Amino acid sequence: APFPLIAPSILAADFARLGEEVEAVAQAGADWIHLDVMDGHFVPNISFGPAVVKALRGRTSLPFDVHLMIAPVDPYLEAFAKAGADQILIHIEAGPHTHRSLQLIRQLGAKPGIVLCPATPAEAIAEVMDLVDVILVMTVNPGFGGQKFLTSQLPKITRIRDMIAQSGRDIRLAVDGGIDAQTAPLATQAGADVLIAGSAVYGKADYAAAIASLRPA
Ligand code: DX5
Ligand code: ZN
Repeated sequence: APFPLIAPSILAADFARLGEEVEAVAQAGADWIHLDVMDGHFVPNISFGPAVVKALRGRTSLPFDVHLMIAPVDPYLEAFAKAGADQILIHIEAGPHTHRSLQLIRQLGAKPGIVLCPATPAEAIAEVMDLVDVILVMTVNPGFGGQKFLTSQLPKITRIRDMIAQSGRDIRLAVDGGIDAQTAPLATQAGADVLIAGSAVYGKADYAAAIASLRPA
């Protein structure tokens, strides 16, 4: 597998041409497609729901990494799984029953993932390490693209890399928010193996060059 994996976030794509925008980054060397779902409640912005995930599913065979910034999550998990989400990521802050929700995602045939907001310590996910295939550390406060990378989160990435090693499980460690050619090496050196990038890919004219700029030379 390439290192790090690159997952463009379609939040920064041209929403009037989403299908073509997904095909374009797949052609340009993306490893996953990152889909940001926002409900105007858990985060102060609204993006799109399962109908859009389903509409895009036929455009690429790349894994769909669906980042749910919604609360509650349980009533919508089946819809996202049926829409074609390969990985469904929920926030540890989204409700009291994260353990049950992660089990439900697995039962629905998708890979479960857990996400941490900047204010949440690494230890908050200690009791779900056995249930997840992906851990996502937010390096901005969720809700919007184009924000500045929070370097304060780097020690947390390293701490979670150690927790993954301790677990003995095969878990991807992704970083989301403010990733560009300058911050990508900071995230990978701290321990990340997946980089999510919205504006640093879709904000550039040449998607292939933009994706390549996030990987070590
Ligand atoms: C923020 C989203 C991110 C966002 C990243 O709430 O989870 O995936 O699209 O955008 P950039 O890369 O522009 O910070
Ligand atoms: Zn995201």
